[in-house]
Amino acid sequence: MTEIAFLLNGTPVTVTAPPTRTLLDWLREDHRLTGTKEGCNEGDCGACTVMVTDAEGSRALNACILFLPQLHGKAVRTVEGLSGPDGQLHPVQQAMIDHHGSQCGFCTPGFVVSMATAHLNARTDHDDVLAGNLCRCTGYAPIIRAAEAAASAPVPAWMEEDRKALLDPGFFRSQISSGGEARHAPPGGRQPPVDAFRPTTTDELAAWYAANPEATLIAGATDVGLWVTKQLRDLAPIAFLNGVADLARIDRSGDTLRIGAGTTIATLRDALRDLHPSFAELLRRYASEQVRAAATIGGNIANGSPIGDGPPALIALGATLHLRQGDTRRDLPLEAFFLDYRKQDRRPGEFVEAVTIPATAPALRCYKLSKRFDQDISAVCGCFNVTTRDGIVTEARIAFGGMAGIPKRAAHVEQALIGHPWTQTTVQKALPAFAQDFTPLTDMRASAAYRLTAAQNMALRYVHDLAGTPTNVLEVRA
Ligand SMILES: Cc1cc2nc3c(=O)[nH]c(=O)nc-3n(C[C@H](O)[C@H](O)[C@H](O)COP(=O)(O)OP(=O)(O)OC[C@H]3O[C@@H](n4cnc5c(N)ncnc54)[C@H](O)[C@@H]3O)c2cc1C
Ligand code: FES
Ligand code: FES
Repeated sequence: MTEIAFLLNGTPVTVTAPPTRTLLDWLREDHRLTGTKEGCNEGDCGACTVMVTDAEGSRALNACILFLPQLHGKAVRTVEGLSGPDGQLHPVQQAMIDHHGSQCGFCTPGFVVSMATAHLNARTDHDDVLAGNLCRCTGYAPIIRAAEAAASAPVPAWMEEDRKALLDPGFFRSQISSGGEARHAPPGGRQPPVDAFRPTTTDELAAWYAANPEATLIAGATDVGLWVTKQLRDLAPIAFLNGVADLARIDRSGDTLRIGAGTTIATLRDALRDLHPSFAELLRRYASEQVRAAATIGGNIANGSPIGDGPPALIALGATLHLRQGDTRRDLPLEAFFLDYRKQDRRPGEFVEAVTIPATAPALRCYKLSKRFDQDISAVCGCFNVTTRDGIVTEARIAFGGMAGIPKRAAHVEQALIGHPWTQTTVQKALPAFAQDFTPLTDMRASAAYRLTAAQNMALRYVHDLAGTPTNVLEVRA
C-alpha cells in the first residue's frame, strides 16, 4: 500500500491504496464521485477526463490509465469541481447548454473538463484539444461552437485556486506532503513488493533499479495502464518515474538537443515546433491531448513497439540513445536498440535516460498514415531525412514504423539514392528496394501490399514535399 496526498476539487485528501489503483476506479468506487465516466478504460474515449495541476501547469488527463501515486502532491479537478462555490456554472458548462452540446450526455463530463482545461490555458485549437473526447450522439459542431463561445469569457476565479494552493509552499508542506517522507526507500534498498518506489532524482532511480531489476518502471502509464485495466497484470515491484524532474529536461547544447526520457510528448511537441516542424506535426497526431500530456518519449522508445511514432522520426534524425544501469552509462544509435519484435538491447536494471538529436534538420519530413486522422495508431509511419550537395544525394536516413517487427531503416532504399541526383526519377528507380528492406504484415490496420505501396508513395510524396508542393491533407485543395 502506498500513501498518496493530493487536492481533490480544492480539498486535501490522503489515500492509502495499492499503487496500481486507477484514479477512475478510486473516484467512482471509493469516493462516489461518479460524474467522471468509464467508457473504454484504455485511454481512447476521454469520458474519464480530469484536470490535473502541478507546478508546471494544468492539463487534461485520462483518469482510467492514471495510477493514484502519479498524483502525489498535485491537484485534481473532476467535473464536479468545475462550478463555483455558490453553484455558478463554469463558462464552458453554460456554453454547452446554450449551444445544445449534449444529447445522451455520457461523453459530456469529459468534454467539459477538456474544455475547461483548455479555457484555463487560453487554448483555442479546439479540434486538437477535443480529439481525445469521443461523442456518438451530439456531433462535434455544437460542441465546438460551445468551446468557441466560451473562449472570450474570463477564467473564473475559483479555477485559479489549485495553482495558487500548490505554489504556496506553506500550504503544500502542511496539507499535501505530510507523511510523504516515508515514501522514499533508501537508494539501492529493497521495498516490500506491494509498495511503489517514487524517486525524485535520476541517481535515486538508477541505484534502486539496479538493485531491483525485475521491477516495472512506470512513466506516463499510457501503455502500462492497459496492462492493469485490460490484462489485470500484477506489476510489483514498481517505480514511478513522473517525480524525477531531472529525467524530464530538454537541454540544447550547440547543435544538439538532449531530450530526457521523462519528457512528455506534449512538452516535446512544443519544444520541436520551430526546430523540427514536421516531427512536431507528427506529434500533433500522436494519440490525443490527454495521452500526449502523460506519455513520455522514454516510454515510447523503451516499449519497443513496431508502430510507435517517436522512433522512426528519431532514427531518421540519427538519434543517439543514452542508457544507464546504476552508475554505468552507454550510448548507442537508436536503431541498434531495437533487436527483434519487442526485444530491445536493454540489460537488467538498465533504463533509458535520454536521447540526443541534432537541433535542426531542414530536410526531415514525417508522414503518418492511419485510418483516422486523430487519435489513431499508425498503419505506416515514414520519416525521411536526405542530405544533398550540388544536387547529389550524400546521405539518406529513412526509417519506418509499421513495416517490420521493429522500427527499421530502409537501408537498401537509402543506398539506391546515395550518389545519385536528387530527382523524382532517382526516387522512382529506388522504389523496388522497399521490397528488399521490408516484408510487412497484414493485420487489422492494413494489408502487407497496402503497406508496401503506401511506403513507396511516401517516398514520392517526400520529393514533392521538399520541392515545396503542398502534400499535407490539410493543405491540399482541389
Ligand atoms: C489511447 C492511446 C493512443 C495511443 N496512440 C499512440 C500513437 O498515436 N503513437 C504512439 O507512438 N503511441 C501511442 N500510444 C502508445 C503510448 O502512448 C506510447 O507508447 C507511450 O509513449 C508510452 O509512454 P509512457 O510514458 O506512457 O510509458 P509507460 O506506459 O509508463 O511505459 C511503457 C514501457 O516503457 C517502460 N519505460 C518507461 N519509461 C522508461 C525508461 N525511462 N526506461 C526504461 N523503460 C521505461 C515501461 O516499463 C513499460 O515497459 C497510445 C496509447 C494510448 C493509450
Ligand atoms: S474511459 Fe475511455 S479514456 Fe478513460
Ligand atoms: S452526447 Fe451522447 S456520446 Fe456525446
